[in-house]
Amino acid sequence: MSKVAILGFGTVGSGVYEVLRTNAKEISRKTGKEFDIKYVLDIRDFDDHPEKNLFTKNFDDIVNDAEVDIVAEVIGGATIAYEFTKRALAAGKSVVTSNKELVATHGFELLELAKKNGVKYLFEASVGGGIPVIRPMARCLAGNEITEISGILNGTTNYILTQMQNGMDFDVALKSAQEKGYAEANPAADVEGTDACRKIAILSSLAYGCEVDPDKISVEGITSLSLSDTVLAEKMGYGIKLIGHSKKVGDKIEIWVSPMLVSKNHLIAGVNGVFNAISVKGNMVDETLFYGRGAGKEPTASAVVADVIDIAISEGTESICVWDKRKDNYVIDINETKTAYFVKVKSSEKDALRAQFGNITCAEEGDEVAFITGEMTFGEIKAKTEKLGITTKVIRVLNS
Ligand code: HSE
Repeated sequence: MSKVAILGFGTVGSGVYEVLRTNAKEISRKTGKEFDIKYVLDIRDFDDHPEKNLFTKNFDDIVNDAEVDIVAEVIGGATIAYEFTKRALAAGKSVVTSNKELVATHGFELLELAKKNGVKYLFEASVGGGIPVIRPMARCLAGNEITEISGILNGTTNYILTQMQNGMDFDVALKSAQEKGYAEANPAADVEGTDACRKIAILSSLAYGCEVDPDKISVEGITSLSLSDTVLAEKMGYGIKLIGHSKKVGDKIEIWVSPMLVSKNHLIAGVNGVFNAISVKGNMVDETLFYGRGAGKEPTASAVVADVIDIAISEGTESICVWDKRKDNYVIDINETKTAYFVKVKSSEKDALRAQFGNITCAEEGDEVAFITGEMTFGEIKAKTEKLGITTKVIRVLNS
């Protein structure tokens, strides 16, 4: 019997409790193991909860209890969660988490600490909500060199972009995403791209074997997107999605988070609402696509519980989810990365656009025009649009 402690009884924590309780028989049938929740840690009172005896406000109760072998950290953030995780690992308890901020910023240290103490630090729920992607990437694609990862990594922004396409205002869509339990405690992390940045950092660290510093990733969120960008992109056969992208280039990587035009022929273009989709390319398998609910209580809790089960059934084995420490100059300067671009200006500036880019064909919407360039570096497109000397909107185009 594995004894589990849940740290944090918010959206995900209460989901973990529910999954373990609701599916206890099913989990035991499949795994031959039983899981008992021994503690739930939260600073709030839950006196009306039917199992109020499980609740504690004191982490010492958990860390000093030799019976607890698995800790599910679903507090979030990189302060108290960081301290508790270190203490749990040092006390010989495996830790599973949905905390992408912690994994992205301190992953290497925590993985090392787990190894040193003969336990595991697993984080399936930190990327893609309920989508199995971390373990399949580490295990099922282990026979590959991973070459590229691109995808929709944030449920809140994909939900907002989808609702906006259906005519809803940005603020109303964001509020709805918050009510559904998709958004971060501070939703700026969603709409400004920070959350997707942490997730592409985790996936890339795992895929290419070297920890990526999230602070080195170029990040742009969805706040500067307008309805006319979407309409013009649509007229040219594209949707706009917030994409996390990384690619191996020699012994370095290119990596960014930004809105990107995605061809309607690409499966990712049809991924709507809270759903995420992550394309992972390997040198043998070619392209694989992982799809499912990227946020929300039950899907995320389902992934946390998958790690709880993994700990119990893989006792005595080494973790496959590991990477080396950060190295300098690992991330290629964003100005040297190459894609095609959507360029939008006021219709009155069409001649200036042609003078700079040649005889281009533009899509038109209201008083704005846009076209798609050939491939060039980000530095080159910036130089060209700066030369125009007019307000220009530039959005990357995803290679399909
Ligand atoms: N706020 C995150 C999202 C939650 O919307 O994707 C899941 O990580």
